[in-house]
Amino acid sequence: MCSIIGYYGNEIAAPIIVKGLKRMEYRGYDSVGVATESNHQIELKKGTGKVNEVNSKIQLDSLPGKIGIGHTRWATHGKVTDFNAHPHPSNSGKIAIVHNGIIENFEELKKQLQDEGYNFKSETDSEIIANLLQKHYEVTKDVKETILKTVSEIKGHYAFVAMFENGELAAARFHEPLIIGVGQNDFFLSSDVLGFIEFTDDAIYLENGNFVILSENKFQILDFQGKQAKYGITKVSKEFGDAYKGDYAHFTLKEIYEQPETIFKAGEKTLDAIEKTADYIKHAKNIYVTGSGTSYNSALIAKQILSKYVKIKADPIMSSELQFSPDSIEENSIIIAISQSGESADVLEAVKIGKQANCKIIGIVNLMTSSLAREADIVIGMNCGPEIGVAATKSFTSQLVILYKIVQKLSNDEITINFENFSKSIFKILEDTTKIQEIAKDLKEVSDIYILGRGINYPIAIESALKLKELTYIHAEGIAGGELKHGPLALMDSNVFVIIINPNDMTYSDTLTSAREIKARGAKIIGVSDIESDVYDYWIEMPKIDEVLYPISEIIPIQLLSYYAALEKNTDPDYPRNLAKSVTVK
Ligand code: F6R
Repeated sequence: MCSIIGYYGNEIAAPIIVKGLKRMEYRGYDSVGVATESNHQIELKKGTGKVNEVNSKIQLDSLPGKIGIGHTRWATHGKVTDFNAHPHPSNSGKIAIVHNGIIENFEELKKQLQDEGYNFKSETDSEIIANLLQKHYEVTKDVKETILKTVSEIKGHYAFVAMFENGELAAARFHEPLIIGVGQNDFFLSSDVLGFIEFTDDAIYLENGNFVILSENKFQILDFQGKQAKYGITKVSKEFGDAYKGDYAHFTLKEIYEQPETIFKAGEKTLDAIEKTADYIKHAKNIYVTGSGTSYNSALIAKQILSKYVKIKADPIMSSELQFSPDSIEENSIIIAISQSGESADVLEAVKIGKQANCKIIGIVNLMTSSLAREADIVIGMNCGPEIGVAATKSFTSQLVILYKIVQKLSNDEITINFENFSKSIFKILEDTTKIQEIAKDLKEVSDIYILGRGINYPIAIESALKLKELTYIHAEGIAGGELKHGPLALMDSNVFVIIINPNDMTYSDTLTSAREIKARGAKIIGVSDIESDVYDYWIEMPKIDEVLYPISEIIPIQLLSYYAALEKNTDPDYPRNLAKSVTVK
């Protein structure tokens, strides 16, 4: 998703801004730009492509001045073009803005501004902010009044930073993240702490509906009524600055390999919150588990393990769907909201609906300073360190471990899980990936992959399909084993590959039968199992472990297979096309 950075200080701004944008690359983007102010003049450069590419072409970091703004754009309104890239100057060129989010009434505002003589160079909704600011500034000659008038007119979800020719910087936030980094002699305005963590770990999380003004002698945080707002300075965890690949070729590979350790650490810093959650669940009328993408797949597992091990019923609901059936949320229930970033707009919307129904919110997040962490009544930390690869890997297994820990508590510790031994068996999967790499070579020309699993292994089949799609762009689909004969069998022929998730549990023999039916139609079978079988054309051997933990271990070879197949297909495993790490728009 788009990333914003603003700098106000004593150093030359442009190189600091470019560095910040580079650090936030993992969020996903398609174009980049920087604008700076020097001697009361705004200069601007922007283009499509990656930060390094564009920088070496047009030297974004050579812009002069100690005040500046920068942006990486993830297209929503308008194609990926130089004109649509941010920053956007106002018509007079005396104001420039960067924006994240969506202005819902932009067409109406654009029409009004066009009627008043303003021209638009881009197809974006963002450009209207620049021209609205200009319109109000020309009348008020005051940044505070200008921002107040502008935010009272725009509707939608947004965070923007505006730079004025007189050297003032202002930033407003409404349902999109915006964080102020407070340095020794400078300030940073960013959508992500990674934008400034190298320079300072003191941060102010701007509240929703607040804005900040920075000028020579002024640092003001106000609300949208123009009143002084309360704020506090938080210390940001330095570990989020440790986002380096080390010796690994990609972040994704590094993050897959971190799992023997992250599995061990999941939820460990918030054990009290896990205990409290178990208590809430015991007394709750209804339990809903929500999330998006991979985090929703964790919600599917939550349903399975709560019912299987402690006989508690829970409803998994996709966050993006919950808004269309808010009536199904019964009052005074609990909502477990799962989100790595804690910033997914759909998840935050689901939480908002839950709050309106007086539900208690339990947030399972990786970023403890995120919006979800601040909205939730109880916060459980995944504690798995920064996940930079756009596809979720270690955060998924951390989410599962936390859910297992909650179930363990609910069972009064009758279910015992030895995470130490488990971590060793994960290590075994990662130790030798030669076979997985060979299979990945054979997937290079394949256009359809199906993944089959039954019972608790079915959500893993769905998550496996998601990983394969994201990393390799191959069409992939998770199928519940028993559904095969109800339709998907028609798709099976010698052109397709089918991955069979087949641990030695109660689903084993039925799943093996399905595999035989598929093989009879000529498809190639990849078995992920702790038992070898002649039906598998390829066997990915799983370590023999406690049955309870099969789902967590099964996903790891598929993460590896997706990663290596991505390398074979020459796609970028860290930054899949069109995707963003933090999906902050609905
Ligand atoms: C899948 C993936 C996405 C995210 C989804 C939710 O690999 O990365 O599907 O899982 O966008 O993100 P969070 O967990 O940050 O809410």
